[in-house]
Amino acid sequence: MDIVLSGIRSTGKLHLGNYYGALRNFIRMQEENKCYFFIADIHSLTTHPDPKMLHENVKNVLVDYLAAGIDPEKSVIYVQSDLHETAELYLYLNMHVGIGELMRTASFKDKARQQLHIDRMNTEEGDVEREIFNENNKNSVNSGLLTYPVLMAADILIHNADKVPVGKDQEQHLEMTRRFARRFNYFYGVEYFKEPVAYNFGEELVKIPGLDGSGKMGKSEGNAIYLSDSPKEIEKKVKKALTDAGPTEPDSVKPDYIENLFTILRVVSSPEVVQYYDEQWNSCTIRYGELKKQLAEDIIKVTAPIRERILDIEKNDAYLRKVTLEGAEKARESARKTINAVREIVGFKPF
Ligand code: TRP
Repeated sequence: MDIVLSGIRSTGKLHLGNYYGALRNFIRMQEENKCYFFIADIHSLTTHPDPKMLHENVKNVLVDYLAAGIDPEKSVIYVQSDLHETAELYLYLNMHVGIGELMRTASFKDKARQQLHIDRMNTEEGDVEREIFNENNKNSVNSGLLTYPVLMAADILIHNADKVPVGKDQEQHLEMTRRFARRFNYFYGVEYFKEPVAYNFGEELVKIPGLDGSGKMGKSEGNAIYLSDSPKEIEKKVKKALTDAGPTEPDSVKPDYIENLFTILRVVSSPEVVQYYDEQWNSCTIRYGELKKQLAEDIIKVTAPIRERILDIEKNDAYLRKVTLEGAEKARESARKTINAVREIVGFKPF
């Protein structure tokens, strides 16, 4: 049986993008693999959350995991900060990671540009490095953000995972995990760590767009439909999505904000429905009101059963405690093995 591991940061409630980009694959993998699914609360510390909010958000992700169908009888569900072994492995891995390679990581540069207030339209090679060392820039970038990929590698390697179901935006991190594993093995002359691969059933990953005509649906961008949204909220959000006066030429290319609505329609609705609206678009007879009504209805069909379970599970603190305690215990069993082996490999020995 292959070992599968994945996690989502605790920065908010999970939305339709998390569901189609990750969660749905987690659930499908439970049957035939040894699965570990965790909540990356240490990773979310890189952006300094308020402690109360942090706990609330860990709970949100946990409840959403369970409600969406991750089954604690089949998979190990745990909170990252409950597994101290991950932090220990992170420390050891850091000794074999270059500062330069971390500074060149795309996700780091993106986040650093945000925090240093570098204009993202005119970015150039070396801009991040220059601003980090610029004494006049009052904004700083913490080293947790720099070493984010090392912690992620530790999450994966602590269970020696084979497959990691993640979205496209995590591919570079996974590539780094493989490199760190290879480097560790090579340095110590062992074949201890496996090289994990990104996994998504060989399907093209759908990137769910936001409802505001911008890019990706995000937990904190205000453009998301949450799994816990009520039917009314969903209708309201879909109704507010950006549209225009409609196409004027037959068979014209859809502008981004219309294409986005179709992208969501393609994942939640039947092929016949999609075809119907495509034809309406192509013949310039499309009525956005009708499209939005259908879209909201089909989104609700997907989310309503999950929402029902969310409302149920979120009241049950005893159950949540049980799941996380048992999950941490099972995760620790596998993590202890790795840490003991790694300590021996690096040369820590009792007297
Ligand atoms: N970086 C991932 C994200 O932002 C979350 C994550 C942390 C993760 N550790 C992981 C995903 C290990 C897969 C495996 O989505």
